[in-house]
Amino acid sequence: PIQVKKICCIGAGYVGGPTCAVIAAKCPHIQVTIVDLNKQRIDAWNSDNLPIYEPGLDEVVKGARGKNLFFSTDVDKGIAEADLIFVSVNTPTKKSGIGAGFAADLNYLQLATRRIAEVSTTSKIVVEKSTVPCKTAESMRTILEANSKPGCTFDILSNPEFLAEGTAISDLFAPDRVLIGSLQTESGLNACASLSEVYANWVPRERILTVGLWSSELSKLAANAMLAQRISSINALSAICEATGANIDEVAFAVGKDSRVGPKFLKASVGFGGSCFQKDILNLVYLSESLHLPEVAKYWKAVVEMNEHQKSRFARKVVDTLFNTITGKKIAILGWAFKKDTGDTRESPSISIANHFLNEKARLSLYDPQVTEEQIWLDLTDYGAIPAEPIKPHVTIQQSAEEACKGAEAIVICTEWDEFKTLDWEKIYANCPRPAFVFDGRLMLDRKKLQSIGFRVVTIGTADGY
Ligand code: NAI
Repeated sequence: PIQVKKICCIGAGYVGGPTCAVIAAKCPHIQVTIVDLNKQRIDAWNSDNLPIYEPGLDEVVKGARGKNLFFSTDVDKGIAEADLIFVSVNTPTKKSGIGAGFAADLNYLQLATRRIAEVSTTSKIVVEKSTVPCKTAESMRTILEANSKPGCTFDILSNPEFLAEGTAISDLFAPDRVLIGSLQTESGLNACASLSEVYANWVPRERILTVGLWSSELSKLAANAMLAQRISSINALSAICEATGANIDEVAFAVGKDSRVGPKFLKASVGFGGSCFQKDILNLVYLSESLHLPEVAKYWKAVVEMNEHQKSRFARKVVDTLFNTITGKKIAILGWAFKKDTGDTRESPSISIANHFLNEKARLSLYDPQVTEEQIWLDLTDYGAIPAEPIKPHVTIQQSAEEACKGAEAIVICTEWDEFKTLDWEKIYANCPRPAFVFDGRLMLDRKKLQSIGFRVVTIGTADGY
């Protein structure tokens, strides 16, 4: 196996940035260059204002940047110099053509792969870091081999990323496992050993799992599908709780005590978001259908459908509780990111809920501690697909939760930011018309305390008792 000295990562996003910054921090003897076509993003990585918010990321980047960690728009140079290349580009759901709405759009991945073939003058280990459908490595190999220069060989590895946004740095420092898939040939196994050595600089050997290529690719889709399935299962039960008087937190606690189930990831909520769960499940649905397994496809699709149901059920509940109309009423939405400790808003439930309220002609007052006003407008207008002018008079974006809640007939918690727990709720109550409602979409607030202040509190997974 070759000893990796220079790594290039194509794609400086939520995965490529933190992952390769941590590799640089943990492997001072390896030079890591992260490249991206997006100049604005690269400039931000080279500035004091990093393009993504993750606890602990600033320290990691500042500790290694300029020493063995570099950010550049010179994709070709990065590729040419490296002996190992991570491909960490976006793989969103296809918007048109065959498989639209389900299949992954592999265009970015294929363009990056072609670039590698065209620019490389020495042999490379090419690592799929992006989440891809099963068997993508095969098409990458075909592209690379068909375009390579004489004497240049490529080994392809699958090394899916399991970090969670919001805890990316601690996940990368101490991963549950690192998964590397390779062809079971001599050169495939050698490439696998080379990448294992990189991780072994800080990850215990027993946590570095080596498997076949296709198992590795499928494991990533499977892991996300099963995680999302837990959320949809608990959310489905939350609807039963609301109708019966059972309490979803008590049910989740009791169920999670079974060691076969386990306590984590059983929190009911307004629904899951983020760029991955929905996309990866739809990808699995598409894969199942292409393999003529319609029952399997239907099973996984239900996980996404339940999530859609949970979001609209919650939005409808707000309308119902506010005496069946919110037209002209001011509603505060606290939290825009899809979860706490990230500024990422992709597929955030807040977006669907805000749209629902806007359709009902409510006035919205929004606040999130990490999401920029510009990003909120991109989300509200679906990146320009919906005209902003008609919405503008109905939306204000505030710089604090307290400001957003002023005069609101309902306060709707969409993201579980810690700071919402310690707001001055008495003061907020004093500035709200009566009756003042709080809708806790994350089951995070002290219901009794809010009730004693005077709020009527509605949560997911408990019967209304205000
Ligand atoms: P992202 O959209 O934040 O970053 C991708 C970057 O790749 C963009 O900055 C884009 O400009 C760049 N790019 C695209 N084509 C390029 C090319 N040909 N040359 C150079 N740069 C190019 O996406 P993110 O969130 O980092 O996700 C990347 C992959 O990782 C996806 O497949 C995703 O499913 C997967 N993943 C994401 C996780 C997450 O929490 N966001 C977790 C685990 C996996």
